[in-house]
Amino acid sequence: MLEEIEILISNEEISTRVKEIARQISEDFYEEDVLLVGTLKGAIYYMIDLSREIQGCNVFLDFIKVRSYGKETISSGQINLDLDLSEDITNKNVIIVEDIIDTGNTLVYLKEELMKRNPKSLKICVLLDKKDRRLQGNDVFVDYTGFTIEDKFVVGYGLDYDQQYRTLPYVGVVKKLVKKD
Ligand code: IMP
Ligand code: MG
Repeated sequence: MLEEIEILISNEEISTRVKEIARQISEDFYEEDVLLVGTLKGAIYYMIDLSREIQGCNVFLDFIKVRSYGKETISSGQINLDLDLSEDITNKNVIIVEDIIDTGNTLVYLKEELMKRNPKSLKICVLLDKKDRRLQGNDVFVDYTGFTIEDKFVVGYGLDYDQQYRTLPYVGVVKKLVKKD
C-alpha cells in the first residue's frame, strides 16, 4: 500500500542522475561497443532508462539473475546463478548494471564470475549504494554510482519487498512492513 512508502529519491531526481551517468558512460566508451548486463529483476528500469540515454556508442543488452541463499547464510556470501547471459562476453566491454549494492556479496560474485570469461573490460554501475553495509573483504569498486543512501530498506524503480512495489516510479523507504498472511 502506497501510504506506507516515503519518497526518498523522486522520479525527477532519478531521471537527472540517469542522464548524468549515461553521459559518463557515453564519454568512456565513445564510438565503441558496450554491453549492459542487467541483473534481474531489480535493475530492469534503471538499465532500460540508462541505455536509452547513452549516445555515441553501440549499446547491447543482456540479463543475468542471481540469488543469495537467504538471510541465515548471507554473511557466507553464498550466491546462486539462476539465469546466465545469452551470449559470450569474451573481448567485449561489459558493464554490470545492478539496482543496489548492500553487503557486496552479489557484485563480488558477479565480477569474479564474469572476469573468468575474459571480457575486454568490466565495469560496475549501481543505482544505489548502501556504503555502510559493506561486509569486510567485499571491497568491490563501483565505477558508476547513482546515489549513496543510508541503511534503510528501499523499494521502487525496480526494487522490491517480497516482489511488491517494483513499479513505483520513485525510490521510497518502507515505513512499516506489513506481514502478509
Ligand atoms: P548484496 O549482495 O548484499 O550487496 O545485496 C544486493 C541485493 O540485495 C540487491 O540486488 C537487492 O536485490 C537486495 N537488496 C539489498 N538492499 C535492498 C533494499 O533496500 N531493498 C530491496 N532490495 C535490496
Ligand atoms: Mg538485485
